[in-house]
Amino acid sequence: MDSDFNNDKRNQKREELKTFFYKTKDCRECDLHKTRINFVFGSGNSSAPVIFVGEAPGKNEDLQGKPFVGQAGRLLDELLATIGFKRDDIFIANVLKCRPPENRDPNINEINTCKKYLFSQIEIIDPLIVCTLGRYSTQLILDTSTGINKLRGRVFRISDRLIVPINHPAAALYTPSRMQILKDDFKKVRDLLDNYQNPESITQVDEIQVQPQQGNGNKSMDSKEANDRETPESSDDKQLGLF
Ligand code: URA
Repeated sequence: MDSDFNNDKRNQKREELKTFFYKTKDCRECDLHKTRINFVFGSGNSSAPVIFVGEAPGKNEDLQGKPFVGQAGRLLDELLATIGFKRDDIFIANVLKCRPPENRDPNINEINTCKKYLFSQIEIIDPLIVCTLGRYSTQLILDTSTGINKLRGRVFRISDRLIVPINHPAAALYTPSRMQILKDDFKKVRDLLDNYQNPESITQVDEIQVQPQQGNGNKSMDSKEANDRETPESSDDKQLGLF
């Protein structure tokens, strides 16, 4: 049974994340706000042991305000189910919170403007594992320009957090031969999580030092300020699916 301490911590994270959502959802820091319908903050469990990080919202995500609700999202749900997870158990976010027009690739200015939101989400949720889906989230989190094909299959550690780069589920939609690799990589996430209580059993981890970025090292301004603000109640809460 959960202790009062764990319950308090869980409630605190939920409130902090919700407050952070209200603080950020009207962002106009880059041009993507001009064409977006929704700021897709991310959704799931605010005390999740794993955060999955995709690239950017597509058309369906922009319409619904939630991450991974299209075809790639259905595949993500199936893959999560193979390792015993539902969406309520984990948190899903993206590098960009707004849809790039015509689903074009994110550009460097957009990533640099938006990354502080993801870093603050990671800080608030404080997961054991960040699983990066595809090249954009992997290169951002690991602060590298190395391609995803060279990084997937390896496990990295930043401080006491494990980073597990895997292919983006959309890649398997177009190249079915990648499906088994994706399933194996999801299984690895589960195994790492199951062994986390015993870190010595986790071998072959690349220790890496990433320069602390705003919101990635120390408690960021954003999440600190978010703590001090009141949380308005509104139907926007539904967008977060917070547990
Ligand atoms: N692809 C992503 O990277 N993110 C989404 O939310 C949907 C598709």
